[in-house]
Amino acid sequence: MSNQGWCLLRRPTGYFQEGDIVLSDLPMPQPAPGQLRIRTVYLSIDPAYRVWANDIILYFPKLEIGETLRGSIIGVVEESYHPDFTPGDIVTGVLRIQKYLLSDGTDIMKVPPDLSLRSYFALYGHIGTTAYFGLEIVHPKAGETLVVSSAAGGVGSLAGQMAKIYGCRVVGIAGADDRCRWIVDELGFDAAINYRTQDVDQRLRETCPDGIDVYFDNVGGAILDSVCLQLNIGARIALCGMLTNYNSDQPVAVYNLLELILKRASAHGFLVTDYLPRYLEAFTQIKAWEAANKIKYRLTVLDGIEQLPQALEGIFASRYLGKVVLQIAPEP
Ligand SMILES: NC(=O)c1ccc[n+]([C@@H]2O[C@H](COP(=O)([O-])OP(=O)(O)OC[C@H]3O[C@@H](n4cnc5c(N)ncnc54)[C@H](OP(=O)(O)O)[C@@H]3O)[C@@H](O)[C@H]2O)c1
Repeated sequence: MSNQGWCLLRRPTGYFQEGDIVLSDLPMPQPAPGQLRIRTVYLSIDPAYRVWANDIILYFPKLEIGETLRGSIIGVVEESYHPDFTPGDIVTGVLRIQKYLLSDGTDIMKVPPDLSLRSYFALYGHIGTTAYFGLEIVHPKAGETLVVSSAAGGVGSLAGQMAKIYGCRVVGIAGADDRCRWIVDELGFDAAINYRTQDVDQRLRETCPDGIDVYFDNVGGAILDSVCLQLNIGARIALCGMLTNYNSDQPVAVYNLLELILKRASAHGFLVTDYLPRYLEAFTQIKAWEAANKIKYRLTVLDGIEQLPQALEGIFASRYLGKVVLQIAPEP
């Protein structure tokens, strides 16, 4: 057994580049009383990892140079001196991107035994819950028009399908034609806009003839600006993510916020970690939707911890539909 993890060598400017992070040999964690050792099985590949490498304080302590990157993992407990965990337990949490980890139990939860580990991050985990609770904040109603950006990604593809279940007309914005076809033909969205090849303002007017009641915003920037121009009175915006700015040192400005005043609209930022005590409620609902074939997902599994740079490059290059995970060890 040997341990390895991806460490931050220097702060990235723009996209992660070779030399920003390095796969390093690490000591094998030895749990003390009250601790446990976890063998990482799956790592969720998230755009936020790029932001977490910046020299800023977010909702976690700032990552220092030389530290192992943070990541959302699923793992199996190998050795435990903690009263609540026994070897063989399957746990998840935002820990570190390394093969073996230490925990004191405060940063992990057990994965419900009825959930598939392979699809956990595609449907459940922080992805399904972000879609579920993000929508709860903006309470979409039947008959309303909802727009979602990064609509062929992990969160966006689920948020759009959940809004369909709630009875909305759903328009997705994505960055390639195959991604637009997937959300309409397979996921049941009413329309799609390719923001890289189409005029977003014009397409929003065409696809949302009655205006926009709800916007699930994963990207910020120019797309948020365009959406603001089409808002209805009383519209609600869930501020989920700002993908447009994650790889840029010069954030894209948003100019049309006056529209929020004119339309008496609200924009509500949220962090899914605040909803941890309610995760099981969301899991139960999503499982029921999946069983009823009302919600679908696409999952790409890449093999080996070595694949992290390619996986991160691939999600920002829109290479994958739906969710991407790295498999770091076989399932127990
Ligand atoms: N608030 C919370 O608690 C919370 C929790 C989880 C995730 N999030 C946020 O939710 C959003 C979606 O997360 P996810 O994990 O589901 O990721 P994702 O949407 O699967 O991310 C990858 C996608 O981002 C899009 N993208 C890449 N660069 C872009 C750019 N410059 N402008 C616009 N889109 C770009 C690409 O799709 P296209 O082809 O469409 O460009 C790509 O496929 C992210 O902003 C993430 O940070 C927030």
